[in-house]
Amino acid sequence: MNKVFFLFLLVPLLGFSNYWGKTGHRVTGHIAQNHLSGKAKRALNDLLDGHSLAFVSTYADEIKADRSNSKFSPWHYVNYPLDMRYEDSEKSEFGDVVMAIEECIRVVKNKNSERENRVFHLKMLVHLVGDLHQPMHASRAEDKGGNDIQLQWFGEGTNLHRVWDKNLIVSYGMTYTELATELDRLPRRERKKIQEGTIYDWVHESHLLAAELYASVEPGEKIGYQYSYKYNDLLFGQLQKGGLRLAKVLNDLFA
Ligand code: ADE
Ligand code: ZN
Ligand code: ZN
Repeated sequence: MNKVFFLFLLVPLLGFSNYWGKTGHRVTGHIAQNHLSGKAKRALNDLLDGHSLAFVSTYADEIKADRSNSKFSPWHYVNYPLDMRYEDSEKSEFGDVVMAIEECIRVVKNKNSERENRVFHLKMLVHLVGDLHQPMHASRAEDKGGNDIQLQWFGEGTNLHRVWDKNLIVSYGMTYTELATELDRLPRRERKKIQEGTIYDWVHESHLLAAELYASVEPGEKIGYQYSYKYNDLLFGQLQKGGLRLAKVLNDLFA
């Protein structure tokens, strides 16, 4: 086989992917949709032409198919030493998920920005608040957020990053609407508690979880049922938080 063609085939198969899989993003979008203010609902309905948050939540991954969008790749994650807080870490000149969320809020909030630009940054924002809650998207540079830590998932080759983007949620076997319905049952007081804090607090929480996840596997380990049993509640909690906090960000933005 032609070498170049072979590489094109291999790269997507190895899956150096930068996303909380589609299901995760849609769960986050669907939960957020249930907690929007009237004002936010009206503004979103207009900017998204009636589409739901779940529907637009995967846009930021779809645009990666076009190479001209490669400058947005670093927007999906942030890497810094495990024993540090984001605020004290050295920032990447290419941006990171925290800077990107702040930039998106700025652009969408500014009614003088072009509509097309506001819509683009809104769709990015919906996605990136989800990514912020995937622990391996707030992790360590040396192993590219766990992408370099190879594992076996039910006998299939994967890596620590991909387990958290995709393998755990796919194995659970529920659709995004089923998951969102199950996960969106908290009483108001607990929802409000989750919505407290800043983006800096939320990224810190993900970063601490990443440290725990790094410590809990050996490179090359074979994982499956036991790992799911141990971590599904953590996964579900992060999806729930991502959804409620996305609603908070949007309600504040359109207040
Ligand atoms: N590439 C490098 N670091 C990454 C991370 N933390 N998440 C996703 N992709 C990455
Ligand atoms: Zn992403
Ligand atoms: Zn990812």
